[in-house]
Amino acid sequence: MHLLTALTALTAQTVEGRLIAAAVLPHGDFAYDPKLVNDTGGSLQLHQAAQRLGREAQTASPELIFLTTPHGLELSERYLFYLNSENQGATPLDDMPHQAAGRKVPLNFTTPSDLGRKLLLKLQESSLPVEGLQGFSNSQPLPISWGEILPLTYLRAYGPLPPVLPMSFPLRRFNHSAEMFDELLLLGARIGEFLDALPERVLWLVSADLAHTHLQSGPYGYCPCAEPYDQACSQWAAAGGSQSSMRALSEARRLQGEGAMSCGFTGLVALQGALLGRSWRGEVLANEHPTYYGMMVARFMPSELLLA
Ligand SMILES: *[C@@H]1O[C@H](CO)[C@@H](O)[C@H](O)[C@H]1NC(C)=O
Ligand SMILES: *[C@@H]1O[C@H](CO)[C@@H](O)[C@H](O)[C@H]1NC(C)=O
Ligand SMILES: *[C@@H]1O[C@H](CO)[C@@H](O)[C@H](O)[C@H]1NC(C)=O
Repeated sequence: MHLLTALTALTAQTVEGRLIAAAVLPHGDFAYDPKLVNDTGGSLQLHQAAQRLGREAQTASPELIFLTTPHGLELSERYLFYLNSENQGATPLDDMPHQAAGRKVPLNFTTPSDLGRKLLLKLQESSLPVEGLQGFSNSQPLPISWGEILPLTYLRAYGPLPPVLPMSFPLRRFNHSAEMFDELLLLGARIGEFLDALPERVLWLVSADLAHTHLQSGPYGYCPCAEPYDQACSQWAAAGGSQSSMRALSEARRLQGEGAMSCGFTGLVALQGALLGRSWRGEVLANEHPTYYGMMVARFMPSELLLA
């Protein structure tokens, strides 16, 4: 069954609240605006795939988005939940500032702070290192930028955004993401349980880019691990939470340890924690690296919907 039909069927069934779907979307400038690189290197494929996913995700009428970002407000050791009711920002397109000519992409979203606090309590019960942040006496929005804004624009283009519950990964991911593997699986599993018990229909959205070491001329240099890392991410997503997806993700972990430098790795592993034990299907809509870093568009849904 085509995904759009499946999503429409899901809407029609008025399924009770729970985690209804998950998606991986890039926050890279060249997926957002392929013209920055003259539509080259797969940028257009990424953009079109992200648009398609954004449209289909809105068709499923999510009532809450759980968003993970590796580039938000970040603590050094703990996973951070944003607890202001409002979030607001405008991200510059910084990868090619000259080409983008100072253009900024603005976005606002609301956050259900009470729900965020409940989730924090649940995770603290499992001794997970999590923390909440409320700024400015909740009288002003928390600042957001490319990690939150760009992936959400693909949904925003097809309708208003539902409330968004954002979580950021701690700074220790920069040098220790491969070692965070088991903790991330547990974190993801506990968050998945929490979301399943909600009355709202929830979309889990991972803001992620892949290996950053595709080009010698790039800011992080070249690693032969970059291409196989991105391929392992595709294999992971296509296997949708099954045992073989675990094998692919373990391979991605090994390559991340070798220097893939993927900002998205922690987000993929946390999602895997939530997917394990579900009979879901995954599908990769695009995986390309227009410049030095890779990007992927992928979606995950309960397999009974795809088979119905
Ligand atoms: C895109 O094409 C324009 C016009 O041909 C050129 O000036 C520019 O350098 C190109 N940009 C990239 C990133 O290739
Ligand atoms: C965000 O909210 C502010 C304040 O309400 C408003 O002025 C601005 O237009 C909004 N921006 C977007 C992109 O919706
Ligand atoms: C990662 O390690 C490098 C080299 O030791 C260090 O310079 C950098 O500050 C570390 N990054 C973080 C976020 O801890």
